[in-house]
Amino acid sequence: MAKQNKNLTIVGAGKLGIVLAQLALKAGYTVYVSGSGSPDKIRLSVEVLAPGAHALTLADATKRSDIIVLALPLGKYQSVPKDMLAGKLVVDAMNYWWEVDGDRDDLRNPETSTSELVQSYFDTSRVVKALSHMGYHHLLDETRPVGAPNRKAIAIAGDNAADNQVVAQLINDLGFDPLHIGQLSAGRWLEPGHEAFGANVDSDTLASYLHDLPPSYAAAVT
Ligand SMILES: NC(=O)c1ccc[n+]([C@@H]2O[C@H](COP(=O)([O-])OP(=O)(O)OC[C@H]3O[C@@H](n4cnc5c(N)ncnc54)[C@H](OP(=O)(O)O)[C@@H]3O)[C@@H](O)[C@H]2O)c1
Repeated sequence: MAKQNKNLTIVGAGKLGIVLAQLALKAGYTVYVSGSGSPDKIRLSVEVLAPGAHALTLADATKRSDIIVLALPLGKYQSVPKDMLAGKLVVDAMNYWWEVDGDRDDLRNPETSTSELVQSYFDTSRVVKALSHMGYHHLLDETRPVGAPNRKAIAIAGDNAADNQVVAQLINDLGFDPLHIGQLSAGRWLEPGHEAFGANVDSDTLASYLHDLPPSYAAAVT
């Protein structure tokens, strides 16, 4: 895969955000992390858990990278001002989890993936769903170099082939095999309630978990 710019901004300094920061640092990325408020609130945990990552305000963090990973509770996606992500490639790693997000009809429409909602809101960004189905502890423990036996896979759903490729490179850098599963709407099959949610398996096994993808999507799984 071609080399790409190695700056990464992560919005959300919780369990997922910190592990992604750790993996990205290990892969040689410059990492910017923002929480929900002042960077002072997250600075200590970022410094201790992901030394070398930069705790910044949302405005500063989002300016510093072309790739922004959303690792905050899905129910709060609209608290991120969409103008701050204008023109960016946004990796939607979020899931609807009712215990955290509350009982939200808007987030559980079975006809629409939550990433399509995120894309509708961030309408001047390009959203790709990825890094959403594997638990943070597995992400931390299962990272492996390219070609290692039983390397685990992470699915990617997105509408733009070039953006999907950039996210594939990021996933590869973090230590996982990327598995393209089709357009952003295919991200529904990665959400809670589907077999791929929680998957910590290799690429062939992950593809087999997507057996219920409609034929129009299934052809895109690579
Ligand atoms: N945990 C996992 O294993 C895992 C794996 C894959 C995907 N995910 C998804 O990743 C997302 C985060 O999960 P998590 O387990 O990491 O949650 P978490 O530990 O509760 O952390 C969420 C973080 O998001 C921050 N946040 C909230 N609103 C924000 C805003 N407007 N701007 C910036 N940061 C904001 C929170 O900061 P404050 O405390 O200051 O509000 C907190 O640091 C969820 O959508 C989840 O479904 C989680």
